[in-house]
Parts: sequence; structure tokens; C-alpha cells
Amino acid sequence: SATAAKDANGVLAVGGVALPDLVANVNTPAYVLDEVDFRERARAFRDAFSGYDVYYAGKAFLCTEVARWVAQEGLCLDVCSDGELSVALRAEVDPAKIGYHGNNKTPMELRRAIVTGVGRIIVDSFDEVDRVAAIAAETGMTARVMVRVTAGVEAHTHEYIATAHEDQKFGLSISSGDAFEAVRRLLDAPGVELLGLHSHIGSQIFDSSGFEVAARRVLALQTRIRDELGTELPEMDLGGGFGIAYTTQDDPSDPKALAEELTAIVEHECRGYGLAVPHLSIEPGRAIVGSAMCTVYTAGTVKEVALDGGVTRTYVSVDGGMSDNIRTALYDADYSATLAGRASSAEPVLGRVVGKHCESGDIVVKHEFLPGDIAPGDLIAVPGTGAYGRSMASNYNHALRPPVVAVRDGESRVIVRRETEADLFATDLG
Ligand code: LLP
Repeated sequence: SATAAKDANGVLAVGGVALPDLVANVNTPAYVLDEVDFRERARAFRDAFSGYDVYYAGKAFLCTEVARWVAQEGLCLDVCSDGELSVALRAEVDPAKIGYHGNNKTPMELRRAIVTGVGRIIVDSFDEVDRVAAIAAETGMTARVMVRVTAGVEAHTHEYIATAHEDQKFGLSISSGDAFEAVRRLLDAPGVELLGLHSHIGSQIFDSSGFEVAARRVLALQTRIRDELGTELPEMDLGGGFGIAYTTQDDPSDPKALAEELTAIVEHECRGYGLAVPHLSIEPGRAIVGSAMCTVYTAGTVKEVALDGGVTRTYVSVDGGMSDNIRTALYDADYSATLAGRASSAEPVLGRVVGKHCESGDIVVKHEFLPGDIAPGDLIAVPGTGAYGRSMASNYNHALRPPVVAVRDGESRVIVRRETEADLFATDLG
């Protein structure tokens, strides 16, 4: 994170807290969340995207305290489940500043969202169009909604493919006419206020060309709505998915440059179609929390494996793994690792940081040069685990999920405690 630094003895400090001191209190593995860094990134998006609403995507990482930070920094909050909504409400986030996603919200979840006064529900299917209309009619409440459209763009890390994206579960297709039909029905439904169209093209994206194609197609739909239904929807959401640096290979998104680019794209397309520029919003998750958190582990075993060509790979097993970070196993994701508790002048060796779970795919960091004298007991920090690390953590092998420790100005505070055996037995009824 921005405030991470090593001292002359190789001790890594985050937010002014030396990691050896932190783990002396909370043990390992632990997630360390740099509060100042999180808030600065949240503010950077808010300021760069002035005139937009910025929704922090809570799926990347959410707990009650972080929901408060999000609200304090003036951001809105995107939730995508009843559980995330509960956390947001517990943190007293203004319901009007909550957006609610999901391709299969239950009628009960929809009812709660509508009765709570959630600012916008992103409608994802025809079934949901009917349910939202029925609940609004029945409760007498107004349901404020957007329509999640699929623009036929598949965004990858450094490219986009303009095929195949229709063939997935999210959203209503623009090209098939489904999105238009959903808009028509929602405009006709009493008790429903249709705010606009929503497009999210993917995650960990660096190339803005996918956003450009999506914006063009969404605004073409907006034009059809104007021409055939006589209204211009007042809002438009461009989604999240802005890429971050996991290793030095990646070039992180700069919020200011991104804001200028996205705004220019939308303004240009609107001019072309003769449309008013709608009120815009975005939903970054990873770009706010991803680099603000690291995971600290303790090395337990070290073994060397001779590879072809005389190369040796040093396997360092740590006290966590795919239960606290599934992204390497699931997405072949890249991370880096660094010794966090001491300096070393030993020659670097080709290393791999692996977990303690019962499968060979339990890899945390695929490739990293580690000091050749790395040994059991060494602390290892893996940066950039804030997004979809703790939020996708599991109890695989009955692992106890690690705590989240917030650090700032030399102080640390546990904001999510480590699970205990009692937590496991709370659901296993014996
Ligand atoms: N908005 C919508 C509608 C989304 O579906 C997502 C992410 C976001 C915003 C936020 O995207 P972000 O800015 O965080 O990239 N587990 C995967 C990522 C799944 C993303 C799901 N949707 C990972 O660990 O890479």
C-alpha cells in the first residue's frame, strides 16, 4: 500500500505499524488494511469523477467499519446480496446511497430493498421486472431501478472481444431487443421509477476501448428509447472493473485519466446521437481496496525441487493459502511476495509461496524471487490482496478465516476478528 515501507533491518511497516509487532498481537495469517490508503483511493475516485456518483463495490471487500469509511468519504455503496445490504444498514449507510445488484435476487430480498428505500435496484431479468413491479404495487412504495444491459462486449485484462459476452448469465441483451423490452415494461409499471441503463463489462480492465464500445451501444439503446418511447432516461452507470497493479508488470488505472477518458467517450457519443449527457455513475471495487490490503503469513516449511535445466524451485509453505486467497487458483492471478520481518543478503532463489491445503493447486504466489536463506518462521507479506481476498475466503479444510487489522498512524485495530473453533461449531450442530 501507499504507506508500506521497509526499514534498514528489512522490517516491513504498514500505516506506521511494523508487521512483526502486529502479528505478535494477532498472529498469522492476517489481512492488514491501510486505512489512509483506502480513504485516499476512495477520495481520488470521488474527486476525479466529480459530477458522477461513485459506488464502492462492496463485493471486493466489505465489513461494517469499511462501509462507514465509504460513507464518510462521500461515496455510495454497491451491494449484491442480502448479507452485504445488512452490513451497509448496520453501518448506517443512507439507503438512498445504496445500489443493489444481482442476477437472482429473491422476492424477499427485493422486498427488503424496496421497503428499505434503497436508492437503486439494478434489474437483471424479465422475471425481476415483474417482481419489482408487483412488490411496488403491493407495498405502495416506489422502486427506483436501473436496467442491467449486456452490450455484447467481453473485456479482458488487455483486450476486449466483441463476441460471446451475450452468452453469460448477467443482464438483458441490447442486440436481441430484450433490454428495450424491459425498459418499455418498467416505464409502464406504476410505482416503478426507471432511472437509467447500467453496463458493467468486466473486471481488472486496463484498456478503455471496451468501455467505448459499451457506451456507444448503451447510448444507441438510449436513442431508441427516446425515439420510440419518447423519453431520455436521466442516468447511466458505466460499471466498475478498473485494473490495479498486482505486480510491477501491471500499470494501475489513474482515476483522473480514467475520468477524463470515460467522460469524453460518453460526451462524444451523446453529441453524435443528439442526446443529453445523462447523470453518470461508476462502481469501482478493486481499484479502491485492492492495493490497500496485504496478507501476512508465517513460513512453515521450505523444500527445494530440481526442475529441468538445472533450475531449482523453492517451495515455501505458509500458514494460509487458498482459503484466504483463492484468486491464484481460480484465475491464475499474479501476486508478489516479500520477506517482512528481517533483511537478507542471501542470493535470491526462484520461489513459490504455497498454502497448507490439501491440493497442489493451493498456490498463493506462483513465481517470486525470494532470499535463498528463507526459513521456517520467516514472515512473508503478499501485497494487493484487498480485493476479493477476504471476501472470497472460505473455511476449506476447516480453516479459520483470518482477521482484518486496520492500521493508521502507527496504530492497529482489529475490525474483523479471526474465526475461532467456536465459530466452526456454531453451525456444526454436533
Ligand atoms: N459492478 C458490478 C456490476 C460488478 O459485477 C462488479 C464486479 C463491480 C462493479 C466491481 O468490479 P471491480 O471494480 O472490483 O473490478 N472475484 C473476481 C472479480 C469478480 C468481479 C465481480 N463483479 C476477482 O477476484 O478478480
